[in-house]
Order: sequence, then structure tokens, then C-alpha cells
Amino acid sequence: NKLDFSGVWRFRELLPFARPEQIMTIGEGQTILLPSDQVATYVGLNPGNLFLQYEGMNPSGSFKDNGMTAAFSHARSVGARRAACASTGNTSAALSIYCAATDLMRAIIFIGSGKISYGKLSQALEHGALTIQIAGDFDDALQRVQQVSRQLGIYLVNSINPFRLEGQKTIMYRIIEALNWEVPDWIVVPGGNLGNCSAFGKAFIELKELGLVDRIPRLAVINAAGAHTFYELYEKQKLRWNNGSPDFKVVDSYMKVMDAGNLRANTLASAIEINRPVNLPKALRALDRCSGVVREVNDQEILDAKAKVGSGGLGCEPASAASVAGLKKLVQEGIVSPGDRVACVLTAHLLKDPDATVAYHSADPKTFEEKLGKRGVRRAGFPNR
Ligand code: F0G
Repeated sequence: NKLDFSGVWRFRELLPFARPEQIMTIGEGQTILLPSDQVATYVGLNPGNLFLQYEGMNPSGSFKDNGMTAAFSHARSVGARRAACASTGNTSAALSIYCAATDLMRAIIFIGSGKISYGKLSQALEHGALTIQIAGDFDDALQRVQQVSRQLGIYLVNSINPFRLEGQKTIMYRIIEALNWEVPDWIVVPGGNLGNCSAFGKAFIELKELGLVDRIPRLAVINAAGAHTFYELYEKQKLRWNNGSPDFKVVDSYMKVMDAGNLRANTLASAIEINRPVNLPKALRALDRCSGVVREVNDQEILDAKAKVGSGGLGCEPASAASVAGLKKLVQEGIVSPGDRVACVLTAHLLKDPDATVAYHSADPKTFEEKLGKRGVRRAGFPNR
């Protein structure tokens, strides 16, 4: 059965919304959990205790394929002919590849101006997506695509789509499968639009209810310091999931402050350059059940962690390395103990953002601002045509 070759659909009994004949798979989720003593030592864990879940092995090079196969299969089952997303690049690459490989739908993608790395943009262009650059950033693009999809009846595949999150739950299934169904003490994941952490929490809540695991791991979500809404709300303002919802007054007043100051997300980890995470309520629920913590890490910490991951033999993009940088911080703080077993999710491949890597390795000034300040780094924009 071809579904058994998918790292998502071989768990189809746990994803009962899709009828097997409607499932579209392109071999997503054939990923690997690798122990890394080099990175363990870097973050301060005992050797043998750190595992890297490498999602760069997906067909489009990021974890998004886990969710896209699910959303795409649902889109097909409701007869959609067009599917759209806003993206910092990986969601759009995933949508584009499913549309191209199956020829069932047209991909329409909205991206912020100059906000996408060339690795990811090239995927959308090569796979033939209708690529629309809007004036603004990801947060603006997401608002626009929601309006447009509603008005024109286009199927939306951003992580606000619940089927996306269903597919992404399987990343957790694969981690514990690789650990012989032993739950690690911690799962660490970068946070952008907060789809992954929401999916991961849901996965464990359900596995526990089904009696397939005996406990739920703790969940650490790592923001980039320049895109730290979740960190601010959860750790600073102590916003919590409470009686079935967060206190939206706290959320609204934070968003008003951002609007008033015209505060924009700003980080070299462009995949998570997001200030208005759409999955905030779901993420709060996940953290509630998984005794979660949120941390922020700056661009220097992210790129140093990324280089350490690379020197250990796995290449990831900047946003992915936020998980490793955040874990290092949590060990330093004593929140994670050196003896804890930790799985860190590396969300996407090194080749997604070569500019960041080349800039990091080619210059040698003393400070980060000199070395990788945004002015100093060539960032992908659209060529003038
Ligand atoms: N890591 C990578 C490589 C990503 O591309 C993203 C999100 C995240 C982490 C954050 O995941 O949103 O579930 O918290 N990228 C989206 C995109 C926003 O458009 O590709 P999240």
C-alpha cells in the first residue's frame, strides 16, 4: 500500500478524517530522529540525551509537507480547484509541490515584500505557483489571503486550517516510535504561527487519552527575539489557557500596542518573522496540557546554534536552529536538566536559506550587527523586472 510509504499516512488510523482513496501523498514524513552528542554538549545536556528530529528530509525540504498532505487531501475531498496560502516560504513551497506533483489544483501564494529566502522562492516559481508579492510582511499577507480566499472561495492551507495540524501531529508519532514508544522529557520547537506546537500538544493529549503513552512530555516553544509575541504574552504577561479560552482582552491590548508603535517582526530567521500568530489560542491550550515554557533567542544565538548543528552533520535553516539555541538557554537556566532526554525539532533544510549561511561564514567582524546586520546581508527580494 503506497500509504505505508508516507511517514504521515502510515499512522492513518490516528487521522480518521481522510478516506484512503482521497489521500494525496508524495512520500512526505520519511524523516529521521538522530542522536547528537556534539549538539548535546553544546547545549549542556549529557551525551546520549539529545535527539534531533530532522524534517529537512521532506520532499519540499521542510516539516510543512506533513501538514500539507493532510490539508491537500481534504481540499481534494471537497472538490477544491485552487488552494492558497500566505507564507514566509516553506508553506508556499509545500503547497506548490503538491499542486505540481498531482496536477489537481492551482497554487496561489501570497508573500511579504522581500521577505522570502531565494531557496524557498525558487521552489514556488519552479513548481508553477501563482506568486503574489504584497506590500507588507507575513502578518499582512495572512490577513490578505484570508480575505481573498473567503471572497473567491479558494481553499486556504495556512495552519489556521485544522487538517494541517492533524498531519503535523505525526512528527510526534515518529519521534516516540524512534524512541521505542518512550516519551522524552522535553520536546523543543521553534514558534512562528504556532501551528507546530499546537499540533504537538494535541498529539500527546490524544495519545495519552488512547492509552498509547503513559505521560505527556513538556513542550518548549522558542521565538526569535525580533518576533516574540508568544514569549511576551505567555512568559511576561502570564497569559494562559483558562476555562476554554485565553483572555482575549490581554491579546487585543497587546496587538493594539504593536499597532500603535507600528511594531513589525524583525529577525534573520525569516521563516518565523511573525508577530500575529493565528494559532495562539490552540498553542496556549497545548502548553497548558504539556507544562509548556516559551523562550526567545536572538539572531546571533540562532546562527551560532545553526552552525553547531551543521558542524555536527545536519544542515538546517535559521528558524529551525532556534530550537537548539532555546534549549541551550533552558539548560543554562536549570529548567531543563542535563540528564533530561530531549527531542529538538529541526524544521527545515539548510539549503532553504543559503544567504544566511554564507554571510555567517564569510565575514569575520566582531559584532553581530557588523557581521549579519540586515544591511550587511543580502536578503532575497524580487528582481526588478
Ligand atoms: N520553522 C520553519 C522552517 C518554518 O518555515 C516555520 C513556519 C516555523 C518553523 C514555525 O512554525 O508556524 O508552526 O510555529 N513557516 C511558515 C511558512 C509560517 O509560511 O512557511 P509554526
